[in-house]
Amino acid sequence: MIGTQALKQEICTLYLREGHNGYGLYHLNQLQHGLQAAAHAQAQGLSAALIVAALLHDVGHMVHDLGETPAEAGVDDRHEEVGAQWAAKRFPPDVSEPIRLHVAAKRYLCGAEDGYEATLSKDSVISLALQGGAMDGKEQAAFLAQAHAREAIALRRIDDIAKDPHATTRPLEVFLDAYLEQALCGSGGEPA
Ligand SMILES: [Fe+2]
Repeated sequence: MIGTQALKQEICTLYLREGHNGYGLYHLNQLQHGLQAAAHAQAQGLSAALIVAALLHDVGHMVHDLGETPAEAGVDDRHEEVGAQWAAKRFPPDVSEPIRLHVAAKRYLCGAEDGYEATLSKDSVISLALQGGAMDGKEQAAFLAQAHAREAIALRRIDDIAKDPHATTRPLEVFLDAYLEQALCGSGGEPA
């Protein structure tokens, strides 16, 4: 594991380099989306691990080279796997596993919850097809049996609402200073 200050610097540098890239088809960028997600996680009283997972859940989009909207080109960038591998080298599973499962959580909710799929944004609908579509009952049961499935569902619901082009959030450093060290230690899922 990397030290807290070195990791803080790495995350700031990554967002400085890639954070201006557009988030899907929305009028906001990756940094705004990540900060909004972290702010929602904080407001919901979720653990430090989930706040940091929310902040970094789309890091996979920033560490691949497939362009800003690969789903539009019919390409599943597998950003949840890329992002989880990046996170697993730096954080405990409390952070990396919800990131790995947040796309599966969307597929779960599409299958398990009436009306959820109708709430998805245009690019989420496009990527859903590439990601395998809604889960059937057997897939839903297998998903829920995984560790961190509930946290991934919470993260997915936050992902869905962190897309306000007019929202203002506190700076990246504020979230990192407040939660990075606790997330690195492993919070055990307790509220921050
Ligand atoms: Fe997202």
